[in-house]
This record gives sequence, structure tokens and C-alpha cells, in this order.
Amino acid sequence: MTVLVVGSVNADVTVRASRIPAPGETVLGEDARVSPGGKGANQAVAAALAGVGVTFCGAVGQDSFREVALSGLTRAGVKLPLLRDLDAPTGLALITVSPDGENAITVASGANARVMPEHLPADLSAFTHLLLQNELPPEVTREAARRAHDAGLTVLHNAAPAREPDPELLARTHHLIVNEHELAVFVGSTGGQEVEAQARTLLTRGPQTVTVTLGSRGSLTVTGKDTHRLPAYPVTPVDTTGAGDTFCGVLAAWLASGQALPEALHAAGVAAALACTRPGAQDAMPNRAEIERHLHPGR
Ligand code: RIB
Ligand code: NA
Repeated sequence: MTVLVVGSVNADVTVRASRIPAPGETVLGEDARVSPGGKGANQAVAAALAGVGVTFCGAVGQDSFREVALSGLTRAGVKLPLLRDLDAPTGLALITVSPDGENAITVASGANARVMPEHLPADLSAFTHLLLQNELPPEVTREAARRAHDAGLTVLHNAAPAREPDPELLARTHHLIVNEHELAVFVGSTGGQEVEAQARTLLTRGPQTVTVTLGSRGSLTVTGKDTHRLPAYPVTPVDTTGAGDTFCGVLAAWLASGQALPEALHAAGVAAALACTRPGAQDAMPNRAEIERHLHPGR
């Protein structure tokens, strides 16, 4: 039961400020914090902390941000035999966090944008699950899903950040995870359709399940026969950076360890909430013991 993550890895430079600046505005913030990030690496770390074997496939540069970008993966025990060192800057994310924990992120993709289909492993027989996001070139993500699908892996795709939907990728995705904005990009103009109805329209295009993360309103998942609505686990958010990544990584980990979908969604929701209570992305993620404590208090 091992998870392959094909995705991005960044160094996150985060500044907490009184608000997220409007266009043309300068806002003075606190001291900058540099920490490991990138949606791919974040999800790999979340899955590894949740107790499954994880291998990461992606790329860094050879600059000074390389070390911090990789530090979380290494610490969490994610295996890196498929990591490339490219002649490009390491991915860098500029993040502003407001007092209520919301953020605005600008990503300089660097090495992530130079990953090519030839960098993907030809043999996927060591893996049971593939976890993808939208921070690598589309042709890489599409090819990874194609190979995984052919090899019989379960494919999870977190379509973040939003980009032009790829019908071929969608057709090879078993579990699609999106937020409301990304969902709207998939279904186009909705004319006020409910989130559940929007999510259902995607089930005809490939996925077995579509999960919509709803922030403080929890999550909604549709399958061929059921709808699962989960309220958010109540917390006071400090920094929501990486909450969605925690959700996806833990969902993959729980499914890879043989848990049923409702249990996996429950654990993913609790883990994502816990990740909002501490600053940073990977630095804030709970491990399996902490998730279990909150899932079964008093055990
Ligand atoms: O999802 C959060 C992540 O998005 C950050 O860690 C940043 O690196 C960007 O990729
Ligand atoms: Na956080």
C-alpha cells in the first residue's frame, strides 16, 4: 500500500500582515518565515505523516532554496529516488497570511515547470495509489495518470490551482478533489446550480467520486450512489496554508491503508482542520496519532 506523488515542491516565504494587499497597495507585515511547501510535497508529507509509504517524483534546482524545499519531505520519511536536480531555480511561493488565517499565494514555478514526461517512472508496479495536483506541466500530470491507470493504480487528482480541465486526465481519475472555485472552472457557468448538482455532473466524465472542500463548511462528496456531507471539525484558524493539501494527503493515506471512503473523508477533514491551527504548510500537519486522538477522543 504505497502512494506515489507526482507534483511540485517549493520553498514558501510567508509574511503575516494586517491584511492581504489590494492591487497597488503596500502592507507592512511581520518577519518573513521560510518553510517547505509546494502542493505536491505538502500532500506527500501529509500522507507520510499519516503512516503510509510515500515516494515523491518532482524537481528542485541547485540554489539555496533547495534545502528548505526538501526538508519536510526528508523529515517525514518520504522516499526521493525519483527527484530530479534541474538547471533552474527551485520553486518559490510568496505567501501573505491575514490575521484570520486566510492567504494569498504567488508561485514562481522554477524547476517544477521544467519537469517532463521522461522524468516519470516507467514501472509503477511498486505503487497502489497515485496522487496528483495542478502545479506541474499538464502533459506530465496527464501522462502520469495514463500510466497509473494502465497499471491498475487508484488515481487521486486534486485540481489545484484551477486550470483548463483536461478530459483525458479526468477520465483516468478515480477520486477528484476540488474547492468551490476549482469546481466552477470544471463545470463552467452554473446558473446558480447547487454544489452537489455541479459535482454530480463531473461523475459522468470519469471519476468515481468527486469531493468538494468547503473550508469552514466542511466537505461534500458525491459517488455513484451516495452523497457524504461532513461538517468542518471546529478549530480557530491561524494559517490555512496547506489545509487542502493535508486533506488530500490524508485521504490518499487512509484509502491506501484500506479504509473505506467515509472513514477516509472523516480523517482528511479532521487533519485539514488541525493543520489550520498552526503556522506554515508542512510544519503544521498532524501525524497519525494526533489525527486518531481527534477522531476517537477518550480512547
Ligand atoms: O497549497 C499550499 C501551497 O501552494 C504552498 O505550500 C505553496 O508552495 C503553493 O504551492
Ligand atoms: Na497551517
